[in-house]
Amino acid sequence: MGHIPLMAILKIARMGHPVLHQVAEPVTDLVDPEIAILVGDMIDTLDDAGGIGLAAPQVHVSKRVVIFFVPEERSGDEEEDSATNLTIMINPDIEPLSDETNLDWEACLSVPGLMGAVERYSHIKYTWLNLDGKQQEREAKGFHARAVQHECDHLDGKLYPMRMSDFTQFGFVEETNRNGDLMRLGREIEPENQMVEEV
Ligand code: NI
Repeated sequence: MGHIPLMAILKIARMGHPVLHQVAEPVTDLVDPEIAILVGDMIDTLDDAGGIGLAAPQVHVSKRVVIFFVPEERSGDEEEDSATNLTIMINPDIEPLSDETNLDWEACLSVPGLMGAVERYSHIKYTWLNLDGKQQEREAKGFHARAVQHECDHLDGKLYPMRMSDFTQFGFVEETNRNGDLMRLGREIEPENQMVEEV
């Protein structure tokens, strides 16, 4: 029998599963076919779940692999490389480019139905290996930077609630969306931006 590539939608680990709190192992063998299969399955799983990012520990694989994209409407105009296409990152690494942080909402496929306000670095540089083993580098701001920080936290066993400082800004998406004051986090945002993508 020949090798038949199969799609697979994997089960997503939810908060409470220990795999989400392990520090994931770096990928050492990029030509290992298991990595390509894992990435393919993660793409199918993310597509099925309707999120914008997924880290391997979220599908019970404790390896440093992340896939993500930035939705068109969340992409900054000033960015050269806006990451609106799916990015596959092996062994990613983040470096903040300033001390500046910002507070905004996050949601996570491993914490379904909930959202919380998290402080993140506003401007970062990040590096990773692509599937060909080539070193890649990008700068990111705003939502893009936030998504990358959220995903890379998964590789270090951290979920966004572990980054929160004010639990009055933590709640069910359905409930929080009804409450404009909570959504705004003390600043004005347009109603069409009141969406929380799961990552
Ligand atoms: Ni997440």
